[in-house]
Amino acid sequence: MVARIDLHEEQMSVLKELEALLGAGQVLTGEAASPFLVDWRRRYQGQALAVVRPGSTEEVAAVVRLCNLHAVPVVPQGGNTGMCGGATPDESGRAVVLCLTRLNKVRAIDTDNDTMTVEAGCILQSLQEVARAAGRLFPLSLAAEGSCTIGGNLATNAGGTQVLRYGNTRELALGLEVVTAEGEIWHGLRGLRKDNTGYDLRDLFIGSEGTLGIITAATLKLYPLPVAQRTAMLALNTMEDAVTVLSRARAGFGASLTGFEVMAGPVLQAVVRLFPQQRLPFEGASAQSPWFALLELSDSESAEHAQERFESVLGAAIEDGLVTDAAIAENIAQSKAMWHLRESIPLAEAELGKSIKHDVSIPISLIAKFVQTTNAALQVKFPGIQNIVFGHLGDGNLHYNVARAPHQTEQDLLAMQYDVYGLVHDSVHAHSGSISAEHGVGQLKRDELTRYKSPLELKLMKQIKDALDPKGLMNPGKVLQS
Ligand code: FAD
Ligand code: MLT
Ligand code: ZN
Repeated sequence: MVARIDLHEEQMSVLKELEALLGAGQVLTGEAASPFLVDWRRRYQGQALAVVRPGSTEEVAAVVRLCNLHAVPVVPQGGNTGMCGGATPDESGRAVVLCLTRLNKVRAIDTDNDTMTVEAGCILQSLQEVARAAGRLFPLSLAAEGSCTIGGNLATNAGGTQVLRYGNTRELALGLEVVTAEGEIWHGLRGLRKDNTGYDLRDLFIGSEGTLGIITAATLKLYPLPVAQRTAMLALNTMEDAVTVLSRARAGFGASLTGFEVMAGPVLQAVVRLFPQQRLPFEGASAQSPWFALLELSDSESAEHAQERFESVLGAAIEDGLVTDAAIAENIAQSKAMWHLRESIPLAEAELGKSIKHDVSIPISLIAKFVQTTNAALQVKFPGIQNIVFGHLGDGNLHYNVARAPHQTEQDLLAMQYDVYGLVHDSVHAHSGSISAEHGVGQLKRDELTRYKSPLELKLMKQIKDALDPKGLMNPGKVLQS
């Protein structure tokens, strides 16, 4: 539903100027704008003066200059798959949503430098394909890769399933092109692996969720394609066992360990119940296991070498009773099916109704204790509440989500959101963790942030914001209070 907004004269003239800049077809209002005004999880419904779709960096800069002149807030948006409402405008209807998906060119691939320079609106999956076609790997991978954009990945410093080996999006970026809050273009598309020439502006814009400027292009690192890959799904009794197997896999595979995901049994069991075309690679008691892990080895030597290493580490884990059952993918189709199970979890979760999501990181050595103590404390305070626990164990990152108790409605659950946050985030803090590992802050966690960041950290962040965006027009109300 798009509310009718009475536009006063200045807003009408901004709309006209936007149309003159971009062409009327690229300035959306009314029903045409509505898909851009609600977030993926349907937790936020905003309003906007217009959704604009510039087709070049120069057009982005011109839109930002115009908005700056008229004090119109700008909300950058990529694929709109973010989990924290960062790309959704507020309800005032004053902002312009600046959609970057028409900036979708691959500007250059340099296989000697192992880099590619791409525009912000490129869909992540298409970049993986472009790299592969050039005989290289672009390793960023997440379940939303078919619709999220590289600009959004950079703006949120997205993580995903390959961080263990290749790092977060930040580690994959060498240079950026950015339109500043005042509409200037910073040409920072450097392809350098060493560059110590003062403050790192690139790293300031990465992870800033559109609050400091608009990323219009990036120079990204490429890697060699693995020669062979092995994937396995493991059944385990406890989170402690999963942590021990992770530690052994790290020791045994070194940098070849490219993924280690953990999933609570009921979570994966819900996936196959909701999506019956998918199957667990286990039968009987193993299929009812309390925990599962998915691990991936990427070998740079040969398939035989990969198999040997895989069997020695997994064989010992089974012998020592850490793993109760293991399914090793025998071909690419089986490997894909295992990953598909894992990647279907957010969709299954959405099918089950609204949940309270926590995207937390904890030192790996404390994760099992965190899960045990937090589960117990939640049951005492919110009896019957259900845990949906999964995540990137290799990075110490858990999606420690909470669904309603059987006797509750969705509304009951949402009414408890900040009490549940309080309990879980205090526990995260007590275990030396972070309340946002990879999804960012957006509007969802903005107020929570003030509970855990020190006053000095918050003051420094605010000073950076004021220096780069003096009028406070870049994605206001996200990350920091405006
Ligand atoms: P959007 O949602 O459009 O925007 C996200 C934020 O970035 C907003 O604050 C927006 O204002 C800002 N922004 C977008 N583009 C730009 C730009 N060019 N310049 C400046 N600011 C910009 N995230 C993970 O980290 N790991 C996962 O494993 C993961 N899995 C997911 C699975 C599913 C099924 C879904 C739906 C989401 C998942 N996400 C995951 C969250 C999401 O996909 C990421 O945050 C992604 O990086 C967002 O990209 P986007 O293009 O959709 O950005
Ligand atoms: C994932 O790891 O699947 C994502 O971060 C999405 C989610 O948390 O739902
Ligand atoms: Zn995740």
